[in-house]
Amino acid sequence: MRIEPAGSLVGHIGVPGDKSISHRAVLIGALGEGETHVRGFGRSADTEATVAAVRALGITVEEPADDDLVVHGAGLRGLHAPAEPIDCANAGTLMRLLAGALAGQSGRFELIGDESLRSRPMDRVAEPLIRMGATVATTDGRAPLVVEGSDALRGIEYTLPVPSAQVKSAILLAALSAKGATTVIEPIPTRDHTELMLEAAGTSVRRRPSSVTIEPPGSLRLSEVTVPGDFSAAAPFLVAATLLAGSEVTIHDVGLNPRRTGLLDVLERMGARISVFNRRKLGGEWVGDVGIRSAELTGTEISPEEVPRLVDELPLFALAASFARGESSVRGAGELRVKESDRIESVTNELRPLGVRIRASDDGFSVRGVPSRPRGGRMDAGGDHRIAMLGAVAGVLSREGVEVGGADAAAISFPGFFDLLESVSRR
Ligand code: S3P
Repeated sequence: MRIEPAGSLVGHIGVPGDKSISHRAVLIGALGEGETHVRGFGRSADTEATVAAVRALGITVEEPADDDLVVHGAGLRGLHAPAEPIDCANAGTLMRLLAGALAGQSGRFELIGDESLRSRPMDRVAEPLIRMGATVATTDGRAPLVVEGSDALRGIEYTLPVPSAQVKSAILLAALSAKGATTVIEPIPTRDHTELMLEAAGTSVRRRPSSVTIEPPGSLRLSEVTVPGDFSAAAPFLVAATLLAGSEVTIHDVGLNPRRTGLLDVLERMGARISVFNRRKLGGEWVGDVGIRSAELTGTEISPEEVPRLVDELPLFALAASFARGESSVRGAGELRVKESDRIESVTNELRPLGVRIRASDDGFSVRGVPSRPRGGRMDAGGDHRIAMLGAVAGVLSREGVEVGGADAAAISFPGFFDLLESVSRR
């Protein structure tokens, strides 16, 4: 896919439903009683894998519209073990959360995934689930994963060794059918969509700044979830519109959960002109409209404590930093090395040939800003959806355009991304 330089970005847009919340709505709906109506479902390769997975487990999912699902729950322990392995495709969120949901079911479940997913650490979920009483076997710490559920799970108190909402969520889903309360302690807070949705489904959830405790609820009833737009899907437009002079973009109905919007805070302290209006609560989640006008930026440092609030946006931060006055850096982001690609390597290796002055470190990167557009050239997504979108943003910002190899990876989270970007690009 060739992305031509743009003069500015102008327009009003909406983005697909939040991927994290869409996965959770289907999984929690499957564990609930009765029907869960999911409106604004963010349809993508990743979330379709979740729908296919719950169907393989015996759940009926109706699809009255592309972004509208009805999940017929089977109750907390009502999932059935299929004869075939369950294919989690590229979706780490699916594999990790499903492992938690299956820990309390009866039967043996094999979870497989694509080459990228098979390279990602799974011992981080196996270990706490084994402590709770499930049998979980990894393949040298990675997928494929075999879960043998138990009807005698025990609640635990567990401190997350890495800041990971996926691990926290796997434990909370297993805790639903355990005996006794479960507490997850997180030294650095991560996204809390699971807690919020479980609370909406009638579970007693005690939330403190760095821990969450749930009591097994007996049953869940979700009924309805309206999924806000995905902040991570809005992020490429936030960055591109900030950096292209004369831009003015409004993104409607975007999820603004404070544990997801670290990029807003970082861009604002760099000097961005972003305004949030119509802020309101949708279910347990904040949502609003975001207006962006172009601005000149100054470099900044991102500390380890900030990382989970913008973990999926760090590749885009690298590009923003390349336009900012002075030096910028990220520390404490070693988790980037175990995402859909090693994102410290892919961001530095793919942006440098385009003209970005970026250097990798063990757990982050640093960028020297220059006041002119990067030259452009060719880059490869390496099968990583966030890198494909990064390439497209680099393309509109460049002087000569960018050829993005493997651009179709964007469909992992955002199938209409390139068309939407083109629709707001003024040349
Ligand atoms: C996600 C959590 C994050 C994030 C991923 C989605 C989730 O991963 O990078 O894209 O939905 O819980 P970790 O929890 O592993 O950091």
